Amino acid sequence: MGRQFFIGGNYKMNGSISSIKELVTSLNNAKLDPNAEVVIAPPSLYLLLAREHLRKGLEVAAQNVFDKPNGAFTGEISVDQLRESGITWAILGHSERRVILQEDNEFVASKTKAAVEGGISVILCCGESLEQREANKTIEIVTAQLKAVADKVKDWSKIVVAYEPIWAIGTGKVATTEQAQEVHAAIREWLKKEVSAEAAEKTRILYGGSVTEKNSGELAKQADIDGFLVGGASLKPAFYDIINSNQ
Ligand code: G3P
Repeated sequence: MGRQFFIGGNYKMNGSISSIKELVTSLNNAKLDPNAEVVIAPPSLYLLLAREHLRKGLEVAAQNVFDKPNGAFTGEISVDQLRESGITWAILGHSERRVILQEDNEFVASKTKAAVEGGISVILCCGESLEQREANKTIEIVTAQLKAVADKVKDWSKIVVAYEPIWAIGTGKVATTEQAQEVHAAIREWLKKEVSAEAAEKTRILYGGSVTEKNSGELAKQADIDGFLVGGASLKPAFYDIINSNQ
C-alpha cells in the first residue's frame, strides 16, 4: 500500500479568535480529497478552539511540546495536556525554533521521544540554510538532525518528516522539484540504512517552503514527496487546492 498523502497547515504566530474560527469553518466546508490526511497547527492559545470547531477526520497539531511530563516549566505545554485536549500531533524541530529559539538537535530529539511515547504523532522538521546548501552540506545537516532522533526513537510509525530548506521558507523561493526530490530520496535512503526498511517504506516525507497551489501539483508527482507542510498558503483558500494536488 502506498503512503497516504499528508498536508499540514502551519499557521505559525498568526490568527485571532475570529480568523481561526473562520479558517476552520471554511476548511470544514471545503471539498477536500478524502484520501488526504489533513492537520492544522494554530498557535497554542487557539488549539482547543480549533479542535472544538474542526470537523471529525481533520486533526490539530501543536507547534511545539515540552519533553517533561509536568512541573515548574513556565510557558511550556506537556504531551499529556495535548492528548487530553484532543490534540493528536505536534510540529517539532521547525527551523524558526531551531534558529530563533536555539533549539538544538538533542532537544528536538528529546521532545520527539516524549511526544511519540506519550501517543502524540510528530511532524519532524529538518532542513539546511542557504550557506549550508552552497557548501554542499545539505544531506550532512539533514541526516544529522534526523540521527539525533533515531538515537532516541526506534519506532518511527508516529513520525512524519518535513524537509524544509530554510532558504525557501516564506521567501517565495521554492526548491525545484529536482532539488526537493533529491533530498527526499536521500532521507529515505538514510531511513533504510539507519532506522529500518519498514521506516523507509512507510514514513511520509513532506516538503515545506513556499508551497502554493501553483507548485504543489508538480512537487506532489515526485516519487519521494508524500505531502506538504504549508505556512503562508495554509491561511488562504489556496490551501484546499494544495490538499487536493495529489488527485
Ligand atoms: O512549516 C511551514 C513552513 O515553514 C513553510 O512556510 O510560508 O514558506 O509556506 P511557507
